[in-house]
Amino acid sequence: MTERRTWLLTTPIYYVNDVPHVGHAYTTIAADTLTRARRLQGKDAFLLTGTDEHGQNIERIAREKGVPTQQYCDQIAAVFRQLWDRLDIRYDRFIRTTEELHVRGVLKLWDRLTRAKCPDGRDAIYKGTYGGWYCPRCEAFKDEDELRQPGNLCSIHERPCEWTEEENFFFRLSAYEAWLRDEIVSGRLRIDPDARRNEVLGIIDQGLKDFSVSRARVKWGIPVPQRPDHVLYVWFDALSNYITALGYADDGALYKKYWASDGAERCHLIGKDILRFHCLYWPALLQAAGVPPPNREYVQGWITKEGKKLSKTTGNVIDPQALVERYGPDPVRYFLLREGTYGQDWDFTDQAFVGRYNSDLANDLGNLVSRALTMVQRYRDGRVPPRGARVDVFEPVKVLASYEALDFAGALSLLWAAVSKLNQRIVAHAPWEMAKDPEKAPQLDSLLYDLLEGVRLISLLVRPVMPGAAERIFRMLGLPAREPGPDDLAWGRLEPGSALGAIEPLFPRIEKAADPAAKETTVSDTSPPVPDRIDIADFAKVELRAALVTAAEKVEGSKKLVKLQVDLGTEKRQVVAGIAESHAPETLVGKKVVLVANLKPAKLMGVESNGMVLAASIDGKAVLCTFDGDVPPGAKVK
Ligand code: MSP
Repeated sequence: MTERRTWLLTTPIYYVNDVPHVGHAYTTIAADTLTRARRLQGKDAFLLTGTDEHGQNIERIAREKGVPTQQYCDQIAAVFRQLWDRLDIRYDRFIRTTEELHVRGVLKLWDRLTRAKCPDGRDAIYKGTYGGWYCPRCEAFKDEDELRQPGNLCSIHERPCEWTEEENFFFRLSAYEAWLRDEIVSGRLRIDPDARRNEVLGIIDQGLKDFSVSRARVKWGIPVPQRPDHVLYVWFDALSNYITALGYADDGALYKKYWASDGAERCHLIGKDILRFHCLYWPALLQAAGVPPPNREYVQGWITKEGKKLSKTTGNVIDPQALVERYGPDPVRYFLLREGTYGQDWDFTDQAFVGRYNSDLANDLGNLVSRALTMVQRYRDGRVPPRGARVDVFEPVKVLASYEALDFAGALSLLWAAVSKLNQRIVAHAPWEMAKDPEKAPQLDSLLYDLLEGVRLISLLVRPVMPGAAERIFRMLGLPAREPGPDDLAWGRLEPGSALGAIEPLFPRIEKAADPAAKETTVSDTSPPVPDRIDIADFAKVELRAALVTAAEKVEGSKKLVKLQVDLGTEKRQVVAGIAESHAPETLVGKKVVLVANLKPAKLMGVESNGMVLAASIDGKAVLCTFDGDVPPGAKVK
């Protein structure tokens, strides 16, 4: 059931003055998650992202690095794309402002504007002289009251602005005040959260100034056809990407479908620093040019570290590449969207990351999935049991509504409440006890089916945030890898009798000793204690070794026990193992088994045993642990 209306979401296009930091990753992950959630609802959704490559700042940095500007842009744009791939971002189009299609689109928009009239009948574009405080890093002139004194500092970059005067082209923004106010008040242009909407209305109330749309001193940009020694203002160039990427230059199919069609929803996801450009300049420019303006702006807050904004300029950055290398894409996506309240600023700490990972992912979700699946493997031979009663744990519609409102933390907390309820149900019903009583088979079927369905629905709804983990869970449930849709959201889609896949580990715990980020934390791990888990240090106490069986005979008077002579490379041992019912002694000779080598000696039926052989017990039958490759006797197993 796909809706007729199309839905386009854009991220800001990122400056290529440096490699991406976690704030950029946050924005793009939020956009990807929202887009995936909309698709799950059946929307025809399109995600656009890209890089902002023109302007004085980029020209300067490339020069400083001694690399031709285009080559420099190519390198950094590639780093952005690689990071998005690594983070499982599924964009539909990656636009670069140095692309020919973009340049043609910008020039078309410029051409329309130069011929446009404002609501008051005057020309939308005019020539004038501009003088102002210019921050080359923001690529923007600053109002006097925006400067930090002394020194006329840019309040964002804390560097001096330059007084700049030049003759250039202006856009008559002042003529669009009433129109812009009406767009916003009527809700035709919706700005979220409300505080940001009020901020924009406040700016309009103070009166809008015209802004210059060309630059005299910049070379790296799109030349103004009427004055080829000028380039178009980098923000005009950059904002245009939202339509040029769709093929505005040639009235392309994507442009028609996702931007210009009647039902098209045109949404931008932006940071609070670029509010003015997106909520005032951009809608007014489009209105003047006769192109439909956007419908919606989602404004996000800042990630901070120790209360300070992360920025390339202050050098206070968190490297998303390092995070994803260390933890994989899903935990990074999960943490960024779970930890803060979207739209507000929040502080990133390594300690919170490790805490959330261990408690939410390794414990809560990881345990639920592994317990539910293991029980079905064990008690129902790995097949989905017959459907029974549904016990409600949550409503998918509410989770989807939270996503739609960009309340990612809210959506995830609804899901985690469901995870805990299911974990509690396992404990309360003790399926391992039910399994002992054949009379309880129907109840056990019903419980296991509902648990599996719970796992399926949770993974389906967590998928927009953690696509990789969700796919793994689907594989474990024996479900095909395909893009899910609204029909999958109904309870009971798992087919009784179908086989589950192999159980895979989902989120191995981060151990403090093994993880540099965890070590950095001075305060102890914030995750609650887990009684049924051991520390890596506990595990390290067990000495496991490869042992070659050199001789085997039954222990007299015992049905189960077999006496083995094993070779550990540096020593020979005698071990007694309870595997005689499933292994004839002669079949054991020559096998390499896993031995607990540091077990205290014990006597079994009067025979001394120096160690223990590892085996699984399936319905009372022993299945030995062996190796899938050749190992020398005595090799350590860990
Ligand atoms: N190139 C312009 C945007 C042009 S859009 C037509 C630009 N680029 S940027 O690379 O500096 O930043 C883009 C966006 O990254 C910000 O608007 C914001 O969404 C996001 N963030 C940058 N730093 C951030 C944080 N510390 N925290 C959260 N988001 C941050 O501006």
